[in-house]
Amino acid sequence: MTITFDEKKKYFHLKNESVSYVIALEEEKYVSHQYWGKRLNSFSQVADYPRQDNAFAPNPFEVPGRIFSLATLPQEFPGNGSGDFRESAFECLYPDQTTVSLLTYKSHDIVIGKQPLQGLPQTYETKEEPAETLLLTLEDTVTKVEVVLSYTLFKDYPVLTRSASFRNNGAEAIHLNKALSMSIDFPDADFDMIQLPGAWGRERQIVRTPLVRGIHTLDSKRGTTSHAYQPFVALADKTATEDQGAVYGFHFVYSGEFRANVEVDTYAQTRVQMGINPTHFQWHLPVGEAFQTPEVVLVYSENGLNGLSQTLHPFYQKHLIRGQHQFAERPVLINNWEGTYFDFTADKIEAMADEASTLGIELFVLDDGWFGKRDDDYSSLGDWHVHTAKLPSGLKQLAENIKAKGMLFGLWFEPEMISEDSELYRAHPDWCIHTPSREKSLSRSQYVIDFSRKEVRDNILAQMMEVLDEVPVDYIKWDYNRNMTEIGTAAPGTLPGEVLHKYMLGLYEVMEALVTKYPHILFESCSGGGGRFDPGFLYYMPQTWTSDNTDAVARLEIQYGTSLVMPISSMGSHVSAIPNHQTHRMASMKMRGDVAMAGNLGYELDVTTLSEAEKQEMKEQISFYKEYRKLIQYGTFHRILSPFETQNEAAWIFVSPEQDEALYFYYRVLDRANLKKKKVLFKGLDPVKFYTVSGYEGAIGGDELMNRGLYLKDALQGDYQSVCLVLKEA
Ligand code: DGJ
Repeated sequence: MTITFDEKKKYFHLKNESVSYVIALEEEKYVSHQYWGKRLNSFSQVADYPRQDNAFAPNPFEVPGRIFSLATLPQEFPGNGSGDFRESAFECLYPDQTTVSLLTYKSHDIVIGKQPLQGLPQTYETKEEPAETLLLTLEDTVTKVEVVLSYTLFKDYPVLTRSASFRNNGAEAIHLNKALSMSIDFPDADFDMIQLPGAWGRERQIVRTPLVRGIHTLDSKRGTTSHAYQPFVALADKTATEDQGAVYGFHFVYSGEFRANVEVDTYAQTRVQMGINPTHFQWHLPVGEAFQTPEVVLVYSENGLNGLSQTLHPFYQKHLIRGQHQFAERPVLINNWEGTYFDFTADKIEAMADEASTLGIELFVLDDGWFGKRDDDYSSLGDWHVHTAKLPSGLKQLAENIKAKGMLFGLWFEPEMISEDSELYRAHPDWCIHTPSREKSLSRSQYVIDFSRKEVRDNILAQMMEVLDEVPVDYIKWDYNRNMTEIGTAAPGTLPGEVLHKYMLGLYEVMEALVTKYPHILFESCSGGGGRFDPGFLYYMPQTWTSDNTDAVARLEIQYGTSLVMPISSMGSHVSAIPNHQTHRMASMKMRGDVAMAGNLGYELDVTTLSEAEKQEMKEQISFYKEYRKLIQYGTFHRILSPFETQNEAAWIFVSPEQDEALYFYYRVLDRANLKKKKVLFKGLDPVKFYTVSGYEGAIGGDELMNRGLYLKDALQGDYQSVCLVLKEA
């Protein structure tokens, strides 16, 4: 892994075992993008920017033949209003109300390691897998605004992380109207664009479209990342598949509003940008102060979409997720939400826990409704003390009773919310996100609490700590159930445009305090399911509730899409009752189990109402899962059949690092008459090894399983069927 600067030819070459990234200084000062892709041993075509006189393309200096223009130059961090007509990477508002900016090279530093990003979630290096960083300092020579672009390269990963830091070295305070984290220009536009849009109950659906002329924006203006788009976009070669071809992925390590732009310009070049959404953003930058953006993870895969995921999964597991649970096998849990909703008593919870513990479930999670006087979703958020009418012996007693049954105890919080009907709101009606001059919009009868204010987050933190210091809590589900509106604050000194980023910094501060003080607690984030399943949260919480939609069929798409960017060890997935509460479907227990165990298996139903046969099936599912969960959660995951393409089928496989063991799942949604037996193909096996396959005689070569495949033994009968095969090296 090396980052070098060629003094003579004025270019930087960042390269490791798998990728190269080349940046050149055109005319010794204009920072241009030259190459990103498969590792190159050397680079020689520097300053080969195709110079020509393009009509209407302005020249930043007088040059014979008018052949140099920022309108066509591929750039690394384009400015505003000075000859590049594409989207800029930033916008400064100067005291004279102008916004024109032009950055040129000032200096650089190549450093071992990675600079910490103060107060932000971030990827980190390890001793075994170190990193190296290029800090490229650019300057606007007129206004003296300085921007440091940071590029970190990690050993052994086709990954680069980028962020930017703005410093005001001018004579007067300025405002940042826009401060993206990265920008990159591809010389052509011959790509498909891949994104993960969604909605509540339909998170992260894979959408692939040919890239066409224009500016394509994926964003959030909802306060947090939200269900609507994942902060992710990829460009794939048109011929790229799950396993072959080049894919360039961008993933934002941030949980607030974001913008991802893909712009195909008039010359069919493509600009990709990512960062904090400028829509609600403005930052006051006094003289001498700096603003640090969050970072973007850039992944290059030469092995298609599976290659992209197989880079991101271990990279996030080893370089983003932290703490005691980083590599730990995740406990099988039961959550009472779909089993009882708000309607529970201590006796009911204990009866469920009794039954669950006999089935082999390891963690009981008490969901919404244990605090204040919360019997429905109209009250009590912000009052984090036990609902004594519902749990008269208190939470500590209940937790201890559950733990006495040999289970861990987990608890639900929604720390960032406040109900109108709460003691906290009555005492502090201005402690929510709002624009003081306007009416506030309620959503689920609640407001977002103003975490941009220290006294507010300190209050919530103190309330939570009081509970956690008294009750033996092993797990927390951290929920968030609305989008933000009328974004503003009652706190003096914060501009409306600063509220959201200060909120995010405040939220990260609270989460850091909690994970530091209670390192044994396993945190699972949630936002009405997977509305905030982003890399920023993974830094604090190693797993997320993937979706409120627990229907096995819907989950095929949701989990398939989520696996594109998120490690399997981060995906919470539960078996729930039938008819399913979201889709009313009646999938078999087998299929519900086979889908849910392709993640962190849990159950979310009233186990006390199940038949003996159902309980027996669950028991077997759980013990099978425990045997293979390490392979599932930390093995190599290969997507095989896409539910988005087949509409009726899905398949995936988990393979051990040594390729001596694998778990294959095939799912079929609807049956049809007169079908032939299904032949399935495998992936990720060692072609020269032989494997036994559960239910089959003898050993079969890995190459044969991957190329010729295997007929499923039994004809699948009826709708909602699944097959799970265990492969072991013979
Ligand atoms: C939304 C979550 O996604 C659900 O799992 C549940 O915790 C409810 N909130 C509780 O209000």
